[in-house]
Formats: sequence, structure tokens, C-alpha cells
Amino acid sequence: MTQAEIAPRDRLIVALDLPSPELAETMIDRLGDSVTFYKIGYRLTYAGGLPLVGKLADRGKKVFLDLKLHDIGNTVMQGVQSIGKLGATFLTVHAYPQTMKAAVEGRGASALKILGVTVLTSYNDDDLHAAGYRIGVSELVEARAQQAQVLGVDGLVCAPEEAGSLRKVVGHQMTLVTPGIRPAGAPTGDQKRIMTPGRALAAGADYLVVGRPIIEATDPKAAAEAIQTEIAQALT
Ligand code: C5P
Repeated sequence: MTQAEIAPRDRLIVALDLPSPELAETMIDRLGDSVTFYKIGYRLTYAGGLPLVGKLADRGKKVFLDLKLHDIGNTVMQGVQSIGKLGATFLTVHAYPQTMKAAVEGRGASALKILGVTVLTSYNDDDLHAAGYRIGVSELVEARAQQAQVLGVDGLVCAPEEAGSLRKVVGHQMTLVTPGIRPAGAPTGDQKRIMTPGRALAAGADYLVVGRPIIEATDPKAAAEAIQTEIAQALT
């Protein structure tokens, strides 16, 4: 899917980082038609949130399962085969070559798209060095992006500041999904590489993942609508 084919309102993906499926469903009800795409990650999945994938699909919503898989190839492949039957649109795996290859094999011809997580957006060069890497964030992101493309991965999760340079590396065939999005003036939390929605889209991002600025807002629906407006304006 090229950038122009994505409906503007589908570009906002709200991270349902909530402690229970009940609280998540309350949030989904509150957000109503302001949000069409949800991300379910560790917190909700391990609190019994996986059945929400089917429930959201029944309500016409799309789901990004942010499980960041990473294991031996056979285990990843079989896990992704099971996940392919749940009805999710996106699934993340860490962008290690063996893991990505197995995930592409596991998704087969299902509707599930695999996204490779290049380098977590809470990491900077110092964090990589502390983890034993001898190269910095930008070099590692680029190397992993090239490997992902060669292996047939559908898209990448990257920091918004990397979207522009990644477009040059992978062209327009791969989907770029960027967390680390903050409307102007919003608290950054633990994110170290952030951008506003408009600037991230201009840099080449296809989808924007936003969690705390919406789910922790006093009025989540108003916060989501404000971001939808910013997205619509950025695309005109
Ligand atoms: O609350 P906030 O907007 O920072 O949430 C960002 C979401 O995106 C979180 O669910 C986080 O796990 C996820 N994410 C990220 N960086 C990545 C991949 C996913 O922040 N590289």
C-alpha cells in the first residue's frame, strides 16, 4: 500500500497501554469513532487482552499487535502462524535477520503484516553502547532496515527522526510506523527521540503511534481528535 492509499484517519494508532481488558474496552468506548486503529502491547496482552483483537475487528477497527517477538527461528515462525489467525493487521518482531526471516515465513499469505523494530525509540547511542553494541543508533537502524527489506518484511517501526533517512534506504514499498510522537507541549515521558504528528508525516512516516498523550488525557477523545486534525492538515 502506498502512502496516498492509507485513509488519513487510519494513520493514528492509539497504544492501549492499559492494565486490563475492561479498562481498555472503556477507553475504546470513550474514543468511539475518533480512532480506527489500536495497538495492543505487552501490558494488555499479558493481562488477558488478546481476545480484544477479535472484538476490535468485529467493531471494524484495525489492530497492531506489538509483541516484539524474538526467539529461535522455528518458535517465531510457529508463533506468527498462530497470530496470523487472530485478525490483526500488524505484528512487530525485533529486527534480527533470523527472527525477521522466520516471521515472514510464518505470516505466509495471511493478511498479517510484519513490522521490524529497528532500535527502540527510548534508546540513544549511550544505551546501545551499554548493551555492548559498538555502533550508534543511526548506523544500526540503517543496517537493520536493509536486512528487513531483503528478507521481505512489510514495514519498520522507527523513531520519527529516522523516517526521512529510512525512506531513502527502503524506498516507498515498506510501511514506516513511528512511535515517539508528541503533540507540541506534551510531556515526553521516557521517549528520547520524539516529533510532532505533522513533522513525522512530512518526514515520511505512514502511521503514528500515540499512547500516553491520548490515554492519559483528561479528555482522551478530544486529544485523539486534535491529533486527527493535525494529521488531516499535514496531508492537505
Ligand atoms: O505513550 P507513548 O506514546 O510513548 O507510547 C508509545 C508506544 O509505542 C508504547 O506502547 C511503546 O511500547 C511503543 N513503541 C515505542 N518504540 C518502539 C516501538 C514501540 O515507543 N520502537
